[in-house]
Amino acid sequence: MKAARQHTPVVSYDVAKLRAEFPILARSVHGKKLVYLDSAASAQKPRAVIDCERQVYEEEYANVHRGPHFLSEWASDRFEAARATVRKFLNAADAREIIFTRNATESINLVAATWGRRFLKAGDEVVLSEMEHHSNIVPWQMLRDAIGIEIKVAPITDDGELSLDGFDRLLGPRTKLVAITHVSNVLGTVVPVAEVIRRAHAAGAKVLIDGCQAVMHRAVDVRALGCDFYAFSGHKLYGPSGIGVLYGRSELLEAMPPYMGGGGMISSVSFAHTEYAGIPQRFEAGTPAIAQAIALAPAIEFVLELGFEAIQAHERDLIAYATQRLSAIDGLTIHGTAPGKDGVVSFTLGHAHAHDIATILDRAGIAIRAGHHCAMPLMHRLGVAATARASFGLYNTRVEVDALAEGIEAVRRIFA
Ligand code: ALA
Repeated sequence: MKAARQHTPVVSYDVAKLRAEFPILARSVHGKKLVYLDSAASAQKPRAVIDCERQVYEEEYANVHRGPHFLSEWASDRFEAARATVRKFLNAADAREIIFTRNATESINLVAATWGRRFLKAGDEVVLSEMEHHSNIVPWQMLRDAIGIEIKVAPITDDGELSLDGFDRLLGPRTKLVAITHVSNVLGTVVPVAEVIRRAHAAGAKVLIDGCQAVMHRAVDVRALGCDFYAFSGHKLYGPSGIGVLYGRSELLEAMPPYMGGGGMISSVSFAHTEYAGIPQRFEAGTPAIAQAIALAPAIEFVLELGFEAIQAHERDLIAYATQRLSAIDGLTIHGTAPGKDGVVSFTLGHAHAHDIATILDRAGIAIRAGHHCAMPLMHRLGVAATARASFGLYNTRVEVDALAEGIEAVRRIFA
C-alpha cells in the first residue's frame, strides 16, 4: 500500500437526509446495496422531479402553445415557467435566450447546423480542446465536411489541464468559434472558461461552452462569463432525460436560421413561403418534451435550495477522499490530476481492462462507467484504450468511496 494523504471530512452536510429524497438509492443490485458512482453518465432523480413528472401526466397534461383550452394553457404556462427557472439558473438576461432541446448534444448540433452554416465559410477555424466529448467534436467535423471549416485542437497538459499557452497559439484572424467543455467528463478538469472566453473574444471569436458536466457542480452565470452559447442536459442535473438546454445571446439567436422545420416554429406558412417565429420558438419545432421540461424546474430548484457552496464542499471532500483512497492502491493510476477537479475520478489498474474492473465492481453493487467515455481523442492523448470512471453526485458518501476502494482491491487481487 502506498502512503495515504489525510483529508478532513465535511461534517455539516446531511447526506442521509438528502439520500432519502432519491428513492432509487435504497435499492439493491445483485443482492448488494447499490453504490451509484455513475452520475456523470446520468444522475438519479429526487422525489420532487419524479412527483412533478407524474403530476403533469395525472393532472396537467396537454400539448403546449396549441390548444385554446384550459389544460393546454395550463401546461403552456408551466412549460414557460420552467424556461424562466432555467433563465434564472443561468442568469441569462431574457427567457427568450433559453431554447429547450433534447440534450446538450442536440444543443451543440443546433449551433453547428444553424449559426455555423450561416456565419462560417471555408477556411474559418473552430478551436476545440483535446478533452472534448464526441458531442463537441463530431458536429464540427460534419460542418467541416459540409462547408470546409478547419478544426484546431487546443492541447492539455499531462495533469489534464487546458494549456492556455497552447490555446493562445491557435487563436488568430481566422478563428471564428471556440467550442470547449466547462468540465471534462473523463478528467474532471475545470476549464478556466472565463479566461478562455476573454481571450477568444479578444481574438474576435464567439464561444460555445459545453456545460454538461458543470451545471450540477457549480453555479453558472452566462452573463458574468460572457459566453455566446452554453449547452447542458437535464438528466445530469438530477432532472428528466430527454430535455436539454441551449442558451444563446439573443442577438445571435435572432440572426440564426431555424434548425428543424415544422409546427410551432413558424408565424405563417404558404406553399410559396414560410415566415419563421421569433426566438426561442423558431428553434423548437414539433411537440417538445413537455413533462420533462416542466420537471426540470424542480431539479434546478432542488440544487439551488441546497446551494452550490454546500454541494461543492461535499463533492470536493468526496473527490479528495476518493483520490486519497484510490491512489493508495498498488498499480492504480488516476488520469486527471488538475487541482479543483469536479465530479469524476478516472483510473486504470495495471493490465486489468476497464470493462473487467467495472463488471467485477458491478457484482458488488457498485456502478461505474468504463470505456472511452465518448472521448476517444482524449484516450489517445492519455495513451490508454479506456479508463474506469467513478463519478460523484450530491448524494454520494465516504462509505461508498470505501466500498469502491475495497472493490478495486478485490479486482487487483484477481488480476495479481
Ligand atoms: N457524457 C456522459 C458520460 O460522460 C454520458 O458518461
